Amino acid sequence: MTFVDELTARSADRLSAIIGASRGSTDGGTSHALLQIALANEVAVAELAASWVGTTPELDVKLAFARQAGDEAGHFQLVAERLRALGFDMDAFVPPAANPLFQVLATLDGTVARIAAGLFTLEAIAYGVNESFIAYCRAHDDTETVRIYETIIQPEEREHQLIGRTLLEKYAATPEARTLAQDTVDRVLEIASRTRAAAATRLGVACIPGC
Ligand SMILES: [Fe+2]
Ligand SMILES: [Fe+2]
Repeated sequence: MTFVDELTARSADRLSAIIGASRGSTDGGTSHALLQIALANEVAVAELAASWVGTTPELDVKLAFARQAGDEAGHFQLVAERLRALGFDMDAFVPPAANPLFQVLATLDGTVARIAAGLFTLEAIAYGVNESFIAYCRAHDDTETVRIYETIIQPEEREHQLIGRTLLEKYAATPEARTLAQDTVDRVLEIASRTRAAAATRLGVACIPGC
C-alpha cells in the first residue's frame, strides 16, 4: 500500500460522511440558487490555485495549480452560460466573501500542504458532492446542467484529484511531510464538514455543488 492509498483509506469515512450529508432530500432550493453557489466555489478555487502558482517552486506542482486555475475558470464560464440560459442576469452576480474554508486554505504555505488541501482533498469533496448535485438536477428535469457536469466538469475534477494523488506521492516523501499531509487533509475535511452543514441549514437543501 502506498502512502497515498493509506491516506485515502484513513480519510474515507470522513469524506463519505460529507458526501453522504450532501445526498439527502432533493426537495427545497432551486437549481438556480445552487448554480450560483457553484459559481462562487469555482471562482474561489480558481483564485486559490492561481495564488499558489507564483510561490510554488516545483515546476510540475506550479503547472498543476495553473491548470487547475484555468479549468475552474472554464467551469465558471460553463455554469455562467447555463445560468444565463435560465434567465439569470450575470451582470448582477457578485461573488460572496470567501467562506471559512477558503480563508484557511489561502494561508497554507508549502508545497505538500497545498497539494494535500487544494488538489487531493478539495477535489475529492467536489467530485463527491457534485454527484449529489447531479442527482438533484436530474430529479428536477434539468438535463442540460446534468450534461454539463457529467461530460465536462466532473471528468476534470476527477483529473485534478488524480494529479493531486500523483504529486502527493512524489513530494510527501519524508515522515514529516507525510504527517503534514495527513494533518492538512484532516483539517480540510473538518472545516469543509462544518461549513457545508452550515450552508445546508441556511439554504434548506444539502446537495450544494463544489466545496
Ligand atoms: Fe470546478
Ligand atoms: Fe477542480
